[in-house]
Amino acid sequence: MTSTDLFPGQWQPQVVLMAALEIGLIEALLDQPRPPARVAQELALDERATVRVVSVLVDAGYLEQRSDGVVVAPDARALLDPADAAFVGDRLWHLHDLLRRWVQLPEVLRAGGPARLERTPESLRAFIGSMRVGARERARPLADQLAALFPATKTVLDVGGGPGTQALAFQDHGWQVTVLDFPEVIDLMTDDLARAGIDVIKGDATRAIPAQGFDLVFCGNLFHSMSPAECASVAASAAGALASGGALAILDFLRGTGLPSSLFAVNMLVATSGGDVYAEADYRRWCEAAGLRDFAVYDVMGHSQRLLTAGKR
Ligand SMILES: C[S@@+](CC[C@H](N)C(=O)[O-])C[C@H]1O[C@@H](n2cnc3c(N)ncnc32)[C@H](O)[C@@H]1O
Repeated sequence: MTSTDLFPGQWQPQVVLMAALEIGLIEALLDQPRPPARVAQELALDERATVRVVSVLVDAGYLEQRSDGVVVAPDARALLDPADAAFVGDRLWHLHDLLRRWVQLPEVLRAGGPARLERTPESLRAFIGSMRVGARERARPLADQLAALFPATKTVLDVGGGPGTQALAFQDHGWQVTVLDFPEVIDLMTDDLARAGIDVIKGDATRAIPAQGFDLVFCGNLFHSMSPAECASVAASAAGALASGGALAILDFLRGTGLPSSLFAVNMLVATSGGDVYAEADYRRWCEAAGLRDFAVYDVMGHSQRLLTAGKR
């Protein structure tokens, strides 16, 4: 079927909102109504541009027009306030970074990926913040699904679990959770994880998983960022970190499962040097080569990714 909607998901209001967040316009209008011309002057912005952008923000419902100027709309306040847990700024910032990669697709087609984009502390913070928000809806149902599949679980290693959302949902099941992630990600999240009593390991899973004896090793949205050789190596290390009777659980896109999956493969093309969306047969091969058995694939309610599991005898 051909997609006839050339602007799926109305991308323009989001681009306008991203720009307004980045430039400080939203923060300036969080509490105090101001006429657009005045806020332009205060932030040293172009007045003509500010007035047009403010019009979109009002029409989209992010700002509200009052007699004394414009202000963030009460309904949107939690989403736009950096101090609120519902803040969507990190997600939008990360989307902005992705757009800057996606527009380089013609060059990537000529020369191969990834697209060029400097990684900064802000972009890492936005990436991790975005992952935290993105996992919120599915974290609890996925933990329930895993608890039903592996009821004897008491200890979990969450590889690539630095954002912490899934780890917290595992902990709600009474499981003892350890998160392994890159040092810079653990450093970002250390306070939140420590406060929740979650153990951490700083490391690179493609080099080693320096821990053992877990009932469950979970890898959520990790494999797609790695090359096939790295995936095989992480599957082997994950198997080594399991107690006998334990299980490896992988949440990821599967090749050949529709538009979200083929789009995500392009995402990995522009964003990583070796990442991809892999086929069920690839995962099965990596798990079996790692000595794991009973490979199985499950749907995850309401999500495009699949849950893949395999056990250690
Ligand atoms: C796309 S995020 C997914 C986060 C979370 N697991 C989830 O499902 O929402 C991938 C995470 O894996 C981490 N990661 C990627 N490659 C890794 C590696 N080789 N070793 C350890 N962590 C890695 C990233 O830092 C990031 O926190």
